[in-house]
Amino acid sequence: MDRSRATGKSAVMIVCASPGDQYQTYKEEIDLAIARVLKSGWYVLGEEVKAFEKEFAEYQGVKHAIGVGSGTEALHLALAALGVGRGDEVITVSHTAVATVSAIELTGAKPVLVDIDSEYFTLDAAKLEAAITPRTKAIIAVHLYGQAAPIHEVIAMAKTRGIKVIEDCAQATGTQIQGVKAGSIADVGCFSFYPTKNLGAIGDGGALVTNDDDIAKKIQLLRQYGWENRYISKISGWNSRLDELQAAILRIKLRGLDKDNLKRIQIAKAYDESLSALAKSTGRFTLPKVRPHTLHTYHLYVLQTAERDALMSHLKTNDIHCMIHYPMPVHLQPAYLGKIGLPGSMSTTEKASNTVISLPMYPELSAASVKTVIDQLSRFFGK
Ligand SMILES: Cc1ncc(COP(=O)(O)O)c(C=O)c1O
Repeated sequence: MDRSRATGKSAVMIVCASPGDQYQTYKEEIDLAIARVLKSGWYVLGEEVKAFEKEFAEYQGVKHAIGVGSGTEALHLALAALGVGRGDEVITVSHTAVATVSAIELTGAKPVLVDIDSEYFTLDAAKLEAAITPRTKAIIAVHLYGQAAPIHEVIAMAKTRGIKVIEDCAQATGTQIQGVKAGSIADVGCFSFYPTKNLGAIGDGGALVTNDDDIAKKIQLLRQYGWENRYISKISGWNSRLDELQAAILRIKLRGLDKDNLKRIQIAKAYDESLSALAKSTGRFTLPKVRPHTLHTYHLYVLQTAERDALMSHLKTNDIHCMIHYPMPVHLQPAYLGKIGLPGSMSTTEKASNTVISLPMYPELSAASVKTVIDQLSRFFGK
């Protein structure tokens, strides 16, 4: 199915992501689940959330999964549960959704941002050591675009120094590193279920996964006012709960996740196979690489080209809508100027923000639309 949007012209617009199409894929089951939850009369942290947490923990191969309000909140709760607060530093990348950095800020800790590597767009492990200080309490490794970050290198560096490691898997549900699910390797894994994500709700949602009983317990308390028993706060907490409607919908989509990820991988393969010769012969653009021994789940399929503006306008003229992830690194954004630690050069990050472009990528994208995108890219770069 490919519900490309009517543009008013004879052609239809090919969009970058389409959660509405995903609803159509699962419509029958989702409609039934919504009716079931509405009838139950229990709408927040109930049986659906419990069942989703059990099923998601099984999918991840971990002891605990905890449903929360969003991916940002998952990161905030993970940091808080690990004891991160004022006076601490947390290292992550600048080439990420701003949410990764805002979650650090929410704890009162100082974000310290390091550069990415030029091949995989993820944290450059070689730059990590120079960013570590006695105040470094945690590192957030972001598995960006569905591509795995060098998590084992990060953990090796952190472990000997008593630093905790969090995996930001907002864009990487189903991604694997040496056969193990991203999120299940470090101290805590954090997920977003924003509608366009590989596992997307119909609203906001998030989850944390961990094998550590104490961390899991702390997150369960923190997400609901610190309550161990209703109305009695054992510790100070706040409200970041997953609701029953989202959990019921996520349970359905979780069952189809591997199949949906496979469709993304097949679309990526079609892009790769049709464009690699042109990329090589023209030298005008590069295709995404996959880190060895990992499964990339293509939340996004990202090209790099110095001719991005011209390419985007050519594609737009031909009713193909692309996006930029991300147009401005966090360290250059007005809200963060002067507030973060920058121990080294950010040249690769800054280059990426000027050259990356995300092609249409979602499980329901039709073969005909993929071909149209390939044809228009070939026309642009073949000139
Ligand atoms: C890498 C990354 N981290 C964190 C988040 C935050 O997730 P949410 O939008 O569910 O708060 C996102 C989502 O945009 C993301 O892409």
